[in-house]
This record gives sequence, C-alpha cells and structure tokens, in this order.
Amino acid sequence: MRLLTEGAKVLAIDISSDGLEITRNMALEWLEDDKLTLVTLDVSDENKVTDTISSLLKEDDTLDVLVNAAGILRAAHFHETSLDLWNTLIKVNLTSTFLMTKTALPALLKSGKGVVVNFSSTAANFAHPYFAGYAASKGGIQALTHAIAAEYAHRGLRAVNIVPGGIQTGMTKQGGIAFPPDIDYKLFAKQEAAIPGGLGSVHAVAGAIAMLASDDGKFITGTELRIDGGAHM
Ligand SMILES: NC(=O)c1ccc[n+]([C@@H]2O[C@H](COP(=O)([O-])OP(=O)(O)OC[C@H]3O[C@@H](n4cnc5c(N)ncnc54)[C@H](O)[C@@H]3O)[C@@H](O)[C@H]2O)c1
Repeated sequence: MRLLTEGAKVLAIDISSDGLEITRNMALEWLEDDKLTLVTLDVSDENKVTDTISSLLKEDDTLDVLVNAAGILRAAHFHETSLDLWNTLIKVNLTSTFLMTKTALPALLKSGKGVVVNFSSTAANFAHPYFAGYAASKGGIQALTHAIAAEYAHRGLRAVNIVPGGIQTGMTKQGGIAFPPDIDYKLFAKQEAAIPGGLGSVHAVAGAIAMLASDDGKFITGTELRIDGGAHM
C-alpha cells in the first residue's frame, strides 16, 4: 500500500486470495487500474514460483524492488519441535526467499538499481524462547541477504534485511500464536520496547521499506534495519 501511494506499480503476491482482495479494496478509492496486480501463489513452491514469475515478468521487463515479506510464525518448546514443523518453517520463510529472489534476479539486475528487501526478525539475533525454528529461518534469511549484497553490488543491486520486533499484524494478533501451555513469560522480560505503546505499527515498517526501495537508501546494502521501538538495544 505504501509503495502504491508513492506511485509504484505493484505485483502483490500472497497465498491468501482473500487477503489480497482486502488489500485491493483498501486501495480502490484512489487506485489507478494498471497499478496493482494481485497474484495468488505459494511462494515456497519452486515450480509455481518459476511458472508464475516468468509469466508475469517477460524477458525485457525490469523490476526495481522485491520485498520478501511472506512468512509464518510457530511456537514450540525446542525439545518438542518436530522435524515436520522445522521443515515447514524453513520452507515457507527461508526457501521462499531464496526462490523468489533467484527467479526475480534477472529483472532486478536489468533495472540497474534493483533492491531486495528481505524480512528477518529480532528472533534471529536476540534469542527469543520457543521460536528456535522460526529464528533459524530468519537467521538464514539474514545470511542469504548479505551474500547476495556482496555478490551483486557491482551490478547495481542492493539487498537489505528489515528486522521487525513486535509489530501489530495478523501474525501477532491476540491469541494468534499457539504458545506451549506452560509458557514462562519471564523469559521475554528483556524484550520490552523502550518506546511505550505496545506493538509497533505496520506504517513504521512500510516507511522503512519505501526509504530502502528509493534513492534515499542508495548507499545502504548488506545490512540490517531493526524496527522494534528499542526492545533490543
Ligand atoms: N508482526 C511482527 O511482529 C513481526 C516481527 C518480526 C518479523 N516479522 C516478519 O514480517 C513478515 C510479515 O509478517 P506479518 O507480521 O505482516 O504477518 P502476516 O501473517 O500478517 O503476513 C504474512 C503473510 O504471508 C503470507 N504467506 C504465508 N505463507 C505464504 C506462502 N507460502 N506463500 C505466499 N504467502 C504466504 C500470509 O498469507 C500473510 O499474508 C514475516 O516474514 C514475518 O516473519 C513480523
């Protein structure tokens, strides 16, 4: 939504067609017809990603910004984390970031000023209990982003990690995370935001993406931008 208001032409990709329709409805009043294309896609499915992106981006098309925000959060005691849960978290969070970036890379390089904005999490660097699988997937995203930044900087591509703390979204809505029944909240004591007000707003994250995606961010690559109200200083 933020990039649309700044004049971008946006391909909005999500596994949830209902969620995409909500996005379109939010923008309907002022949206120009050709500015928003909705695409329902499981970004962790290699064949579907390849087929869909190659049908959306033709050989001569350029892409200025790729934002890899799709993700899932699951909580469990580490000793109760099944291989199935572990694999799901790695696939949906980390493998999807790899697949989408690899598939979009030719169009990003053709732009000459392409930017990849990947979504990590403060869980990657700051030891969040009950989130070992999620944290590992996000740590992997950070490492991937740094490698891409180093490899393609000379071709004009930038790659940056957004590192949100607690942000008010579908992922963090009341009762949305199934914690173990014997959760020890004291383990989260270090993670109070210094700026009062509970969870942060999505607008704080959207503004950072818009900055990184624009020329204002043109000297920023291969790094993290933490947005957590000071909860991890
Ligand atoms: N909200 C927070 O506090 C917080 C904190 C740190 C990191 N993050 C990260 O921010 C990103 C955005 O999450 P959010 O908070 O907006 O949560 P959200 O649940 O509102 O959004 C995540 C979106 O990803 C989509 N998605 C899930 N699996 C998918 C798949 N296989 N293919 C395509 N789309 C898929 C969902 O349908 C959903 O629209 C995620 O990567 C998340 O890990 C969020």
